[in-house]
Parts: sequence; C-alpha cells; structure tokens
Amino acid sequence: MRRRQFVLGGLSAGLGAGALPALARTPAKTAPRAAIPFGAAMRVDLLRDDPDYRRAVLEHCQVLVGEGGLKWFDLRPAADRFVFDHPDRLLAFADAHGMQMRGHTLAWYAGMPKWTEAITTKQAAERALYEHIDTVVGRYKGRIPSWDVVNEAISDNPAIDKPMRSSLWQDLLGTQHIDMAFRRTAAVDPKVQLVLNDFGFENPTGQCRAKRTAFLRLVKELKDRGTPLHAIGLQGHLPGEKEIDREGLSRFVSELHGMELAILVTELDVIDDKLPPDPAIRDEIVASRAQAFLQAIGDVVRPEAVLTWGISDKFTWVPIWFRRKDGLPNRPLPLDANYQPKPLMRVIKAFTGATT
Ligand code: XIL
Repeated sequence: MRRRQFVLGGLSAGLGAGALPALARTPAKTAPRAAIPFGAAMRVDLLRDDPDYRRAVLEHCQVLVGEGGLKWFDLRPAADRFVFDHPDRLLAFADAHGMQMRGHTLAWYAGMPKWTEAITTKQAAERALYEHIDTVVGRYKGRIPSWDVVNEAISDNPAIDKPMRSSLWQDLLGTQHIDMAFRRTAAVDPKVQLVLNDFGFENPTGQCRAKRTAFLRLVKELKDRGTPLHAIGLQGHLPGEKEIDREGLSRFVSELHGMELAILVTELDVIDDKLPPDPAIRDEIVASRAQAFLQAIGDVVRPEAVLTWGISDKFTWVPIWFRRKDGLPNRPLPLDANYQPKPLMRVIKAFTGATT
C-alpha cells in the first residue's frame, strides 16, 4: 500500500518523484505556492468575525487544522450526540480557498467530555473509540486527507517500564489502543494519511532523550506489528529558553524516516515565557529556535507540511499554560498581534520555499 503523502495536488511536482497526493487538488489562485505547504491551527469563529485574521490566513496558508472542533470535548456534548458545525465550516472554508484540512485528533488523553468518565470497561472503551472513528472519519472520508489519529501518547517523563501517558484509552485498552485506532481509521478511509502526533523531542535534556527513546520504541513496535502508520507529527512547541539538540533531533528524525515514515511539523510555536521582555530580542530568539528545529529536520528529510499552532500572537494558546511573569503578551507565532510578519515568518518562508 503506497504510503499516503500529504501534499497539495498542484505542488506534488515540487516535491519530486513519488510524492503522490492522498487527495489531489489544484490550489486556488488565492493560495500562494510553496515547496512545502505551510499552514496553521485556526479558530473557526475568527475566520467569520475577524477580517484581518481571515486575510492573514488567505495570504499565508495552504493547509489548516482546527485548533478545536474535532476534539472530543467540542464534538461530543453527549454520548449519543456529535456536533459537526465547526469542522464542517472549517472544511468549507478550506474547500473554498483550495486549502487542505488536517484532522486533529481522534484519540487523546485531554479534552474529553465529562460523560466519558462513565466509560470504565475495556468493552465500553473499544465500542466508544470505534463508534467515534467510524462516525467522524466516515463523515470526512475523502475530504480530510490527513489525521492525527493518536495524539501525545507518550508520557512526559517516560520510564522503561511505563512509557505511555495515562488516558481513557491507554488505561482501559492498553498500548494496543494505538494499533486499534490506526487500523479502524484506515478501514474507514483507506486513502487517508495516518499520523502519530507528539511533542517534546527537541532539546538536549534527559527528558527529551527519554521521550525520543520511548517514542522510537513505540513506533518500531507499531511498524513491526504492521500497524498502518504513515507519518509522524512533530508538534514543535519549542521552549524558547532551551537550545535545540540539532544532532539528537536529526538522529531521531533519521530513525523515523528509516522506518518509511513521512514527517510533518504540526504545531510549531516558540514558548517565550522565559525569554527577555524586549520584543525585538525575543522575536529573534523565537526565530532562531524555530530555524534550528526546522533545519535539524530538514537536514534529514523534507517535511510534508509545516503548520504553526495559530498564525498571530493575537490568538495563541500559550498564555493558558505559559503566561509571562512580567505580564507581557506572549509572542510565539509568525505574525504579531497586528498581523505583521515577524522574524519567525521569514524563517518559515525561507524553509518552506514560499515565494510570497
Ligand atoms: C490546545 C488548544 O490550543 C487550546 O485552545 C485548548 O484549550 C487545549 O488544546 N497540543 C495539542 C493541541 O495537540 O491539541 C493543544 O491545543 C495544544 C498542545
């Protein structure tokens, strides 16, 4: 089965031989052409209500993902209800502007609605997982070409005997929940790119080394058992105060690539809560961390897409967890709060080969 590539139809030539799009689509004239598709996590209501936000998205992005909308918390207000309004609207926007939409995410530890606490047996967990995948992936079959099937499955501090993060799925089904989710998604949409998404691999720390080791072990186990896994999503939430372990990250990516896995950068931003207050100094450090991160990957393989987790500092998740002690607004994203490009956007444009 040919590995699923996640590329815009009109760009596949730029990616060289063998890059067959999972869903060929010629980008609309509004989508600038780039060697590597760039995009961002988006908030559906802002696309409707904020013309500057919408304009920035149309100017810079060829691919998008819902920051919310396809998480259980948004999608599943009750056991017998699915609410598709937001993802439907985001997909309609993507279709109208020649963009590809990524799906995020089918199985995650977080963002689970309270009613799921009533799922307490292996049988109930399997039934819930399969019903969710059948319904959600089935609805967008052939229209969402790439899914983060499982998100953040590895523990923040993986131990040899306990590498996996606790979740409803892990706790009731064990690590096999990952294989189950990937196989079920592939069964529902045989053409979709199946992605395992995670973070925390980038720095020269014991924690990152342990996470890289645990993640590689998991991926090898999945590949050995024939799990239909096509790509790895490196989220890229980079701690701004920490250097990038270029050698360690390149070696990690090389091992993944050696297992026939494509690489996507799925949630890039630089967490600047511990960086100096001066915006110009901070922006340069943010850009340099992203540059080192992207280059460490690019030295091994061309990522099939680069997405940031948001497009403008005006709307970022970062202060939820990483508010600055000096109270200054965070500056983690490619555009500032007035939608003006920052050094980080220049780094991304240079890396992706964007011409605009
Ligand atoms: C975050 C959203 O940005 C927040 O708005 C929400 O409250 C929590 O989730 N890694 C992920 C994303 O994979 O889904 C998370 O998104 C950020 C960390």
